[in-house]
Amino acid sequence: MKKSWLITGISVLLFVGVAGIAIYYFSPAQKLQRHGYSATESTVILEKVNPETVTIILSHDHHPDFVNLVQDANFDSSKVEIYLSALEKHQLDAAETVALVNHPDYDVEHIYSLQMLNIMQSPNYLSDRRERYFAQLAEYQASDDSTTISTTQLISLVNANRDYEFYTHTQPAAVEHGPLVLVNKYYYLEPDFHPEPVTINAAYGTPGITMDITAYQQFEKLYATALAAGFQLYVTSGYRSYEEQESVFQSWVEQVGAADAPNYAAKPGFSEHQTGYALDVFVPGSTTADFATTPAAKWLADHAPEFGFILRYPEDKVDLTGYSYEAWHLRYVGLEHAAAITEQDLTLEEYAVLNRYI
Ligand code: DAL
Ligand code: ZN
Repeated sequence: MKKSWLITGISVLLFVGVAGIAIYYFSPAQKLQRHGYSATESTVILEKVNPETVTIILSHDHHPDFVNLVQDANFDSSKVEIYLSALEKHQLDAAETVALVNHPDYDVEHIYSLQMLNIMQSPNYLSDRRERYFAQLAEYQASDDSTTISTTQLISLVNANRDYEFYTHTQPAAVEHGPLVLVNKYYYLEPDFHPEPVTINAAYGTPGITMDITAYQQFEKLYATALAAGFQLYVTSGYRSYEEQESVFQSWVEQVGAADAPNYAAKPGFSEHQTGYALDVFVPGSTTADFATTPAAKWLADHAPEFGFILRYPEDKVDLTGYSYEAWHLRYVGLEHAAAITEQDLTLEEYAVLNRYI
């Protein structure tokens, strides 16, 4: 009787011992440690994920950055599988991987570089142009001379449609946006688009010039302020019909040839002069050749936005606008938008696209 109690006791002890060892051996912490994570790392990981997720972790190779990743403030425990795949795939650190995977536009099919992540995090990134940023970046990375492009430049380029050849992918201009309408080498006006411009005072420039009435009211203030500052402005062009633009373009073809003319003049239908919101402004005696060097040009560039006008074709944005520097060409966009465009140092190409005035 005594002996059988002894056997039972030993059996129970043995069973408890083996079961204890088995429980310990198959515990999530031990599994993680056998997978290469230290005891401390395993504890940290288990604080951040539920025990069932351990199976997912074990189905991937040990990754030295995973323990940092789970400690990221934006770590989402429901995305462990994607984080691990992303860590293995993209050569980004833990914080970058979390930011990338958490981004609404993350797509497991793509391979992402740090620059692509920076693009996606930029305030000027547009979701619907994602593939175009990818394509442009790939083009730069694949170029023979390994040309690089900054994140800001690449975003500007795609936002301004400069990943497309000029006069391709053309669309009708969104005239319903009034002074914000974008007309350039991608957005056009129909030949019969005629706004109802008013004739400006002959004292302001070449007689017979017309322009949009709101822009004109602001121009009168600009003119008076410039005069008080010692600059007598002189308007040589305002609203131009489709037909007038045809002859402007043709005269440039005659002056500089068909290949270069598009750098100086818009083809008919693609000129913002046809909107009535654009003006060419000089001072008496100056021409396109020297106006940029005059103090009046500097004054205009500094003060035009205070009256709702922007310098539309700046010297440092030729690649984006598609036109050589025009110190004389002003475009009315309204006070608030002129201030924002100037403050953000954007072209109308970028501003209109970013704010969906297209
Ligand atoms: N010179 C400007 C770009 C135009 O022709 O509209
Ligand atoms: Zn002009």
